[in-house]
Amino acid sequence: MAYGQQQHGHPSDDGHRQHHGGHDSHGSHGTHDGSGGHGGSEGATPEGLAEILDLDAALFAPHLTALTGRVACLAGDGVRHIVDLGSGTGSGTFALLEQFPTARVTAVDSSPEMLERLVATARDRGLGERVRALEADAGAGLPGVVDADLVWASASLHHLDDPATALAGVRAALRPGGLLAVAEVDGMPAFLPEGGAAGALEARCREALDGLHAERMPHRGADWGILLAAAGLPVEQERTERWELRAPLPEEAGRYAFLVFERIRTALEGRVGPEDLAALDRLVDGGSEDVRHRDDLVVRSTRETWAARRPA
Ligand SMILES: C[S@@+](CC[C@H](N)C(=O)[O-])C[C@H]1O[C@@H](n2cnc3c(N)ncnc32)[C@H](O)[C@@H]1O
Repeated sequence: MAYGQQQHGHPSDDGHRQHHGGHDSHGSHGTHDGSGGHGGSEGATPEGLAEILDLDAALFAPHLTALTGRVACLAGDGVRHIVDLGSGTGSGTFALLEQFPTARVTAVDSSPEMLERLVATARDRGLGERVRALEADAGAGLPGVVDADLVWASASLHHLDDPATALAGVRAALRPGGLLAVAEVDGMPAFLPEGGAAGALEARCREALDGLHAERMPHRGADWGILLAAAGLPVEQERTERWELRAPLPEEAGRYAFLVFERIRTALEGRVGPEDLAALDRLVDGGSEDVRHRDDLVVRSTRETWAARRPA
């Protein structure tokens, strides 16, 4: 199938289901909740999460360009086929297509809504021929994907039920000598200045969310270096970066903070006290404390990355 080509029809011989979403579909999906690591997650609709992912990509675009640039240096020449594992709306896909102008990307996600959005964006940007969307549970392997030069997994591995099985699938999809780049975030970004009452509220919320995520996504915060090595993917580089945006911020920052705090408010019902819930309400109620109107907003996020290679 041509990359980005619209498909219609029936199950094909190899078990791939072809349908109207403009992408391939394969197998059942994992038990993940479809929620995100960039924003508050619980209760996120696919549309809401998709907008959060797009805002994150827009705000941190220079950082993402720098990060994918470093990956390009490690990957070396001759990268033709890239896999974006848990692609979401395609922040990694599009950054990588720019870094590797002759490569094509297979974007793998279990969410048809995410893939539809990614395919539409690719088409709008004239990149449809270089992108193939594959709907699959990446936790069970990467069906039909072989000889990838580079696999990129950003904020997605912690969603998978069984990282060992998933990483075995990644190893099988990589060509010998191929590179796996993993990026993980430290949860939702922080938006309020540290030190004051608002920052203290945000810190309490993050702690409560960490408890929630520990129950629902036990692999969040895992030492991926150890897991990668155990999967036969020795780590070549590991680094932690603190990304921080300060005033003057683009308008999208307020919208991003608003969407995240809306989700946090929903997720923390019954998990923090009534005063904190009321304070969270004031961050999204359109009043003077609303994050869309504040001039003290920041956007802070810590990203940890690992680059590992399948031995040649
Ligand atoms: C936090 S988002 C990250 C999206 C994108 N990589 C980025 O950095 O913006 C996690 C993505 O992983 C996808 N995902 C979760 N579980 C998955 C699974 N078992 N197989 C494939 N994709 C999965 C979700 O649908 C979501 O799009």
